[in-house]
Amino acid sequence: MDKSSGVYVAGHRGLVGSAICRRLQRAGYSNVIVRDRGQLDLTHQPAVEAFFASEKPEYVFLAAAKVGGILANSTYPVDFLRDNLSIELNVTDAAYRHGVKKLESLGSSCIYPKLAPQPIKEEYLLTSPLEPTNEWYAIAKIAGIKLAQAYRQQYGFHAISLMPTNLYGPGDHFDLKASHVLPALMRREFLHVDDLADAALFLMLHYDEAEIINVGVGTDLSIRELAELVCRVVGYQGRLVFDTSKPDGTPQKLLDVSRLRALGWEARIGLEEGIRETYQWFLSQQGVSQQSVAT
Ligand SMILES: NC(=O)c1ccc[n+]([C@@H]2O[C@H](COP(=O)([O-])OP(=O)(O)OC[C@H]3O[C@@H](n4cnc5c(N)ncnc54)[C@H](OP(=O)(O)O)[C@@H]3O)[C@@H](O)[C@H]2O)c1
Repeated sequence: MDKSSGVYVAGHRGLVGSAICRRLQRAGYSNVIVRDRGQLDLTHQPAVEAFFASEKPEYVFLAAAKVGGILANSTYPVDFLRDNLSIELNVTDAAYRHGVKKLESLGSSCIYPKLAPQPIKEEYLLTSPLEPTNEWYAIAKIAGIKLAQAYRQQYGFHAISLMPTNLYGPGDHFDLKASHVLPALMRREFLHVDDLADAALFLMLHYDEAEIINVGVGTDLSIRELAELVCRVVGYQGRLVFDTSKPDGTPQKLLDVSRLRALGWEARIGLEEGIRETYQWFLSQQGVSQQSVAT
């Protein structure tokens, strides 16, 4: 991938897509192509076809998806299945037919079985039942992996699939009903989105195999430890109460990242440092300084 290659980042306004754009910019890639949903609805096949025919990107990061937490998944099962299947099929097929040199799709650790042994190795995919609360999303994401593998097998298309663990960082969503696990204080292994973007570029440059590849930090923590860490960062000194009546998904989720480590990549941003920085970003979005919160 040259610094002047046409690189399309699908989903550039999202948590992951925006971090990948920042990373590409920092690395000096000068021809990054983006379209927001109003300009290009990726569920609309003719529009996707026309975009690839006219822009002819050489490399594609697919970070556009209909995403959400447990509640959103169970309330809108059709949206999660239909939109994600459409986006994956439209983008993968158009990328192949319009000569994209490499496609990197972002999956999710929720594709793994609910009771997978820990830490979760890539080969545990499809070995036992999924977590029912997000199976709509997971099934669509698994179909995306299989699409990439099928285009590689039948046409020799260079498509790779990354499975990141839970992400957090600037650009995250803080709506309590639709939010990811950290804002809703629900759990596990957490990777800063800037580390993910770094791994995404690293794997685009150095990985070209059919097998999916996990992207994580390799350590996890309990909800209580996480909550205590957040309290420390935001200066909260009150009591913590845990509502155990709420659904919490898969009991433990820690990815085995030995394959990624063997390629020479490791996460760099510590959780406390990352949460501190994300909290600063959150406050800046609200127009508040940390000092005024503490007083
Ligand atoms: N966040 C995590 O913890 C996490 C963890 C593991 C994996 N991932 C994966 O990373 C990928 C991106 O997640 P994210 O957290 O960055 O999500 P996000 O912040 O919600 O961003 C998703 C992006 O996709 C775009 N999009 C959705 N539907 C679209 C459509 N029909 N046409 C065009 N664009 C569309 C959205 O555009 P608008 O801005 O216009 O809505 C948004 O920019 C997903 O595949 C997800 O599974 C995320």
